[in-house]
Amino acid sequence: MGSYTEIYQLALDKPEEFWAAAADDLVWQKRWDKVLDETNSPFNNWFSGGRINTCYNALDRHVDEGNSSRLALIYDSPVTNVKQKITYLELRNRVASFSGVLRKYGVEYGDRVLIYMPMIPETVIAMLACARIGAIHSVVFGGFASNELAKRIDDAKPKVIVSASCGVEPGRIVEYKPLLDNALKLSNSEPNHCIIFQREMHEAELIEKRDIDWHDAHDRVTSVDCVEVEATDPVYILYTSGTTGIPKGVVRPTAGHLVSLKWSMKSIYDVDPGDVYWAASDVGWVVGHSYIVYAPLFHGCTSILYEGKPVGTPDAGAFWRVISEHQVNCMFTAPTAIRAIKKEDPYGKLVKKYNLKCLRSQFLAGERCDPDTLEWTKNILNVPVIDHWWQTETGWPIASNCLGIEQRDIKPGSPTCAVPGWKIDVLDEFSKPVPTGEIGAISLKLPLPPGSLPTLWQNDERFVESYLTTYPGYYETGDAGIIDEDGYLHILSRTDDIINVAGHRLSTGGMEQVLAEHKDVAECAVLGVNDQLKGQIPLGLIVLKDGINTEHSEIIEDVIKMVRTEIGPVAAFKVATVVKRLPKTRSGKILRGIIQKIADSVDYDMPATIDDPEILNEIKESLQKIGYAKQ
Ligand code: COA
Ligand code: AMP
Repeated sequence: MGSYTEIYQLALDKPEEFWAAAADDLVWQKRWDKVLDETNSPFNNWFSGGRINTCYNALDRHVDEGNSSRLALIYDSPVTNVKQKITYLELRNRVASFSGVLRKYGVEYGDRVLIYMPMIPETVIAMLACARIGAIHSVVFGGFASNELAKRIDDAKPKVIVSASCGVEPGRIVEYKPLLDNALKLSNSEPNHCIIFQREMHEAELIEKRDIDWHDAHDRVTSVDCVEVEATDPVYILYTSGTTGIPKGVVRPTAGHLVSLKWSMKSIYDVDPGDVYWAASDVGWVVGHSYIVYAPLFHGCTSILYEGKPVGTPDAGAFWRVISEHQVNCMFTAPTAIRAIKKEDPYGKLVKKYNLKCLRSQFLAGERCDPDTLEWTKNILNVPVIDHWWQTETGWPIASNCLGIEQRDIKPGSPTCAVPGWKIDVLDEFSKPVPTGEIGAISLKLPLPPGSLPTLWQNDERFVESYLTTYPGYYETGDAGIIDEDGYLHILSRTDDIINVAGHRLSTGGMEQVLAEHKDVAECAVLGVNDQLKGQIPLGLIVLKDGINTEHSEIIEDVIKMVRTEIGPVAAFKVATVVKRLPKTRSGKILRGIIQKIADSVDYDMPATIDDPEILNEIKESLQKIGYAKQ
């Protein structure tokens, strides 16, 4: 293997040769005809003509190669006090059997299955069972409420929905079934059946005929073998926040997903088959799809499925307990989780309780990693701490220190440089690269490498409009930043109104739509303000209709409840205030960026286009009353 620079250059100069070599690491039913197929550009395809199966490469392959008894999954659930170890053979058998269940209830190749589940092995089984028969899964994060779930049901039109009776959050049971029932009432698409996994801490009521108990569903089921699919078929759809309230259905192509993830395990994370890999995220997010479920299994690793939190389950030593108990070699989490631990155990006393010799590296992503958090983690763990940057759309890291190629200097605050396969440019408004060190729109040169989205689910137009239009020849990431004199990338902010709350990506536009539904609200703005723990949290400003005499606190309580009910607790929308008016440009655009700077006490330039500068003082006073805009 060469140096980072050599390998990066090879991937840039000869992408087809580079990715064909990576693809040889998988088991194909039929090799591809063309490595990169640009005939339908900009909807590019990798490995067209090839036939392959995701589940085969995740499970059966390892069984066939003599690794039946290797652990595939370790389920560790401090919230229920359950631990389970599942070998590759057992997981293969359970998946093959659930594929039979899906078939029994009418799911065939190309059909969609929506999965609304907590962090339990059955979720992984359901995902892989879809891939086994060529059905397309769409997992919805458990922290989303009915309305968000309904939007995803409407778009994906699943034939079957797989869910569970409940999730377990510290101190409370989240009943999924009423949320699902309500979502089905709100949606226009009716699945044939819902298969419900009943958990012992709460039993859900089933609706006769439509709902089927997970265990009963297995009656008289025969296991199903892997079905060959086209390399370019979608393996899953994962919805993510866009700038409007309508989520974007990111499509993941089968072969590109397999090839990029398998390659990333050695090249980026430097792990080998048999190693224990832990991504402490949720399967409802892309990190969970890629690095709890798929990549570790493609690579023959043992993956940890952790149903718990970094703190409070039972304490801030939870991560270190899991690492030492299961001999984790490489771990991945979000900076916010580390900040939560650091807050409770600032001197890392709990680390000393455990033997962490097994741990070789700690990766962080999902939001900007502040240098303090990175340094603190490095000091207490004494392993390389790697910030890396990517998004739901790309499916795997765009920029990282690639430990399996060559460890480069770590600069806190930077996710290092482009991973081989990606070409990152920082552009000005005319699509020209800005000079070194200047801020611009971080953009990815087309064509994108394997694994990244070829389009949005049944919405080519939105794909082109959202990502490919502003900077011709590039994919627009929505992030702004700089490339410094050493070629290191720094991610500074978003260019749109997406915010990142505790590593979760949320649309402020979506929250504004909810606030605007309140009968007393004339207009509103939601923006992300700095938060020491979660990175950002949403803050709502509302202007009331004339003549409203209701107590402001009552209205605020209402809108907070509405966001929780309509979007979900994950939005963490807990702060709002009533203002007399909102600052706008003369053309009527709300100056959200300026309000955010005022709230965070950051200097700003008075916009020339503002209709009445005095409003900014009014806003500052209102924000001061709720603890913001302190200077
Ligand atoms: N189902 C139902 N509700 C959920 C949920 C799920 N799967 N996940 C989170 N929630 C709820 C939480 O209970 C919380 O509800 P509350 O308002 O009643 O307290 C709310 O959604 C917000 O959750 P969260 O953002 O997780 O905040 P928290 O205050 O519970 O915990 C941290 C803070 C830092 C411990 C937590 O955010 C964390 O572990 N973050 C890691 C982020 C991560 O893994 N991101 C993935 C990208 S790598
Ligand atoms: P998601 O699609 O939910 O994974 O969110 C992707 C977005 O999270 C990116 O576009 C960034 O805005 C942010 N993000 C993810 N990783 C990082 C990182 N390492 N540094 C800065 N921002 C990040």
